[in-house]
Amino acid sequence: MDFELIEQSLPYLIQGALITIEITLMAVGIGFFIGLFAGIARICRIKALRIIATIYADCIRGTPLLVQIFLIYFALPMLIHTQINPFVAAVTACAINSGAYVSEIFRAGIQAIDQGQFEAGRSLGLSWWQTMYYIILPQAFHNILPPLGNEFITMLKDSSLVSVIGFEELTRRGQLIIAQTYASFEIWMTVAALYLIMTLAIAKFVSFMEHK
Ligand code: ARG
Repeated sequence: MDFELIEQSLPYLIQGALITIEITLMAVGIGFFIGLFAGIARICRIKALRIIATIYADCIRGTPLLVQIFLIYFALPMLIHTQINPFVAAVTACAINSGAYVSEIFRAGIQAIDQGQFEAGRSLGLSWWQTMYYIILPQAFHNILPPLGNEFITMLKDSSLVSVIGFEELTRRGQLIIAQTYASFEIWMTVAALYLIMTLAIAKFVSFMEHK
């Protein structure tokens, strides 16, 4: 075990871990809003919206994130005749992917609220959207927080897939060091430890927020 190499590589890998956090925050942040709208669309009264949102969620959840990354980074540029930089491709793919899973979280969180709450809102003269906004969503939010935390952890780990398009997050940085040093064992163990520290910290934070 070459501890010196681990020590030397650590700052570079920690920087990679910060990039991993950055890309995850952006992906889940954007995914949150996509998921909010898609989740509401899936249960609203407008049939066209319901169909579009369902197709979106099914297509994204039914295909691997890795293939979606390839589609956005390699296939889309052929269609639009412009290169996409790896960062934009990585965030876009992860955000679109996360949005589909978040839409499911919102749909389930909203449907878990008693139907009577909705009827009470409507009978007070609120519109469908007002009832959703003032009555249902604030309550649904409580149900949504824990699975949203899980989504964040999943995305943090799955963001390692963007290393395949050369985007230098934690996993890619590990690969790059190994390409020069051949120290697979030391580096992959360090990379794994960094992921573990991040996921455990987020899990702790989420359970703390839940109790609040
Ligand atoms: N690994 C799965 C895939 O390839 C999950 C993708 C990300 N999951 C998520 N909850 N955003 O499709």
